[in-house]
Amino acid sequence: MDKIVVKGGKKLSGTVRVSGAKNSALPIMAACLLGSEKSVLEGVPNLRDVQTMCRLLRVIGARVIFENDRLEITPFSKMKPVAPYHLVSTMRASVCVLGPLLARLGSAQVSLPGGCVIGARPIDLHLKGLQALGAQIQISHGDVYAGTKGKLQGKEIYLGGAFGSSVLATANVMMAATLAHGVTLIENAASEPEVVDLADFLNKMGAKIEGHGSHLIKIQGVRKLHGANHTIIPDRIEAGTFMVAAAITKGDVTVQNCEPEHLNALIDKLQQAGVSVKRSKGSVRVSRKGRLKPIDVTALPYPGFPTDLQAQIMALMAVTPGISVITEKIYPDRFMHVSELNRMGCRIFLEGSSAIVNGVQKISGAPVMASDLRASAALVLAGLAGEGETHVSRIYHLDRGYERIEEKLSSLGADIRRAKE
Ligand code: UD1
Repeated sequence: MDKIVVKGGKKLSGTVRVSGAKNSALPIMAACLLGSEKSVLEGVPNLRDVQTMCRLLRVIGARVIFENDRLEITPFSKMKPVAPYHLVSTMRASVCVLGPLLARLGSAQVSLPGGCVIGARPIDLHLKGLQALGAQIQISHGDVYAGTKGKLQGKEIYLGGAFGSSVLATANVMMAATLAHGVTLIENAASEPEVVDLADFLNKMGAKIEGHGSHLIKIQGVRKLHGANHTIIPDRIEAGTFMVAAAITKGDVTVQNCEPEHLNALIDKLQQAGVSVKRSKGSVRVSRKGRLKPIDVTALPYPGFPTDLQAQIMALMAVTPGISVITEKIYPDRFMHVSELNRMGCRIFLEGSSAIVNGVQKISGAPVMASDLRASAALVLAGLAGEGETHVSRIYHLDRGYERIEEKLSSLGADIRRAKE
């Protein structure tokens, strides 16, 4: 197993280029199963999760060629509509083959993803939406069996749960509805940029989707979808992680290939904290000279502050003297990084779904353990600010979502390397 070794204290400076968005690429790859021909995706990040989705599509029945950041997916005329447990258990996003398989083949068997370290992650909304379209769903021996007699039927569906909208449930239902008979209205749809990117791709395949980006999506079903070419949007979470890296090291970094509009919530919070953020077309420049100020942050669905940047902003507030309160409204238990940050000298206390961050002047490097993807990024960020060396182990989590992060950070002047445990 690999670990990351970071020696803190270097100011980051220069330019870094963000890769394509993992959370866009994964459902779009699943959507390729809806087409009868080859689709070509560009700007695809070479990540462990993307490789897992490639394996899943091959198991189902598609020719998949991945070179550099270009991915060709050609579904076979005969597919096996099964997503097995060994793949779904390593990557929850596998569940987004459910909608396309059901719509295209009339049946699907997908293992239940179960929970994960950031908390319970049910798929009841995915199933509710597909049932509303006429699917019969059964759960047996840990697998979801979905089937339909004839075509799915368009329907008005309210897709809300206890925590508001769901990104992948919206994606699954939207994909299934593209080939349904009649019109589907998804109310309380997720409005994340990755949902918009998926809808744009589906429209290029011949789907008729309107309203994506709002909470009401209208899908007029069509008979058939073809292949399409598409470039994946930049990863706003990777961009946000580099922005926090600039702020935490008192650096000056230009983050290229990003969409500043997708980062408004983070930009607002960084500016409140006293960080300078300058937007340009396709890039942001983040620099800090003076002291930081504590801020309160609540993770919410888009356009609110993203839960996938909650751990990273907490690392920044942990080294900002004063009290900051960070509240998680999407995954109330997503605080595995707290105890590891505290091993480095941070003073963070949990109070229900909030973390009270008592920011300190200095933290020190320590051996720490990554528990999930974004928590790992927070530990690397803290390592950049800590005195001495931080060893972040179990970085296979990091490799699920960040492409060559140690190379990108060292090109900005960080003292960081990958090593064997
Ligand atoms: C996606 C992202 C993930 C991000 C999350 C929230 C991908 C591959 N992953 O995950 O990185 O953290 O959005 O922005 O795109 N829920 C239910 N029932 C359901 C589905 C969800 O109760 O059927 C709850 C979840 O437990 C959570 C909330 O809804 O509390 C939002 O989750 P959701 O938007 O579905 O997350 P994902 O789409 O799985």
